[in-house]
Amino acid sequence: MTQAEAQAATQTAKLLVGKSALITAGGAGLGEAIALKLAAAGANVVIADISSKRGAGTVEQAEALGVAAFAVKMDVSVSQSVQEVIKQTIARFGRLDILVNNAGGTFGYTGKLADLPEELWDRTLAVNLTSIYLTSKYTIPHMLEKGGGVILNIASVAGLNGRPNEAAYCAAKGGVVQLTRALAVEYSAQNIRVNCICPSFATTRGIERIINESPDPEATRQHMLRGILVGYLADPKDIGEAALFLVSDQSRFITGVALPVDGGVSCHFAS
Ligand SMILES: NC(=O)c1ccc[n+]([C@@H]2O[C@H](COP(=O)([O-])OP(=O)(O)OC[C@H]3O[C@@H](n4cnc5c(N)ncnc54)[C@H](O)[C@@H]3O)[C@@H](O)[C@H]2O)c1
Repeated sequence: MTQAEAQAATQTAKLLVGKSALITAGGAGLGEAIALKLAAAGANVVIADISSKRGAGTVEQAEALGVAAFAVKMDVSVSQSVQEVIKQTIARFGRLDILVNNAGGTFGYTGKLADLPEELWDRTLAVNLTSIYLTSKYTIPHMLEKGGGVILNIASVAGLNGRPNEAAYCAAKGGVVQLTRALAVEYSAQNIRVNCICPSFATTRGIERIINESPDPEATRQHMLRGILVGYLADPKDIGEAALFLVSDQSRFITGVALPVDGGVSCHFAS
């Protein structure tokens, strides 16, 4: 490591000291990468995941970075579960400065709307969108009491543009983008900034599984790469870097933004 790199790492390490952050679905994939990036910057982290085992895995890595961390089982789509986790976070750390609403996904469904089962529509909206209503509703009063905070939502490029065979996911993520803007309008004057990130495809274990279990993995990878100008899929750490910027004071003048972290896929027409 050069002297300049060491200096930059030290500065990054100080960005979130004294803050506490709750990351939903922080046990794997992008949530895990975001949690570890925030922990490396000094934040104490709460990993709320439906899988206790996965949550514990992230906690172990965060603790190795020298911060306090704990895992808690949570289903983001269940109000009681969300309320309990927020209470536990405040009881343990005395504050909740950063809320990262990362939970979401497609539940493996691809198909046209007329074939989409009603339960899958409901579940997709519950986990991707209603979850953010719930976590925000029960966190914001605490943030207001403490004088402010930051909310970061993980949307998708599917929330900016239509994608075939993913109507429920597109609708839910479009809702996340709009909820982000609406919350920014409602609370920025009270020192709560609200932003979202719109990733394209990142090489999480889940995405790698989809690629490897498809009949033609190379064709599937190439399909995901279509339109990504930089020519490769994101490393989850790329999303973590953007998340760290948006939750730290380095972005103090940024609120209500839907930031594509997508290798350029959303900036042009498909060719
Ligand atoms: N991976 C990508 O390429 C990509 C691209 C665009 C957007 N996103 C979005 O990023 C977010 C994270 O995606 P990922 O691919 O890292 O996820 P993932 O499929 O790797 O899952 C991450 C975690 O979510 C947990 N989880 C599932 N349901 C839950 C629930 N109801 N409550 C709490 N935890 C739950 C799982 O236990 C798992 O640990 C999602 O909102 C997704 O839509 C991901």
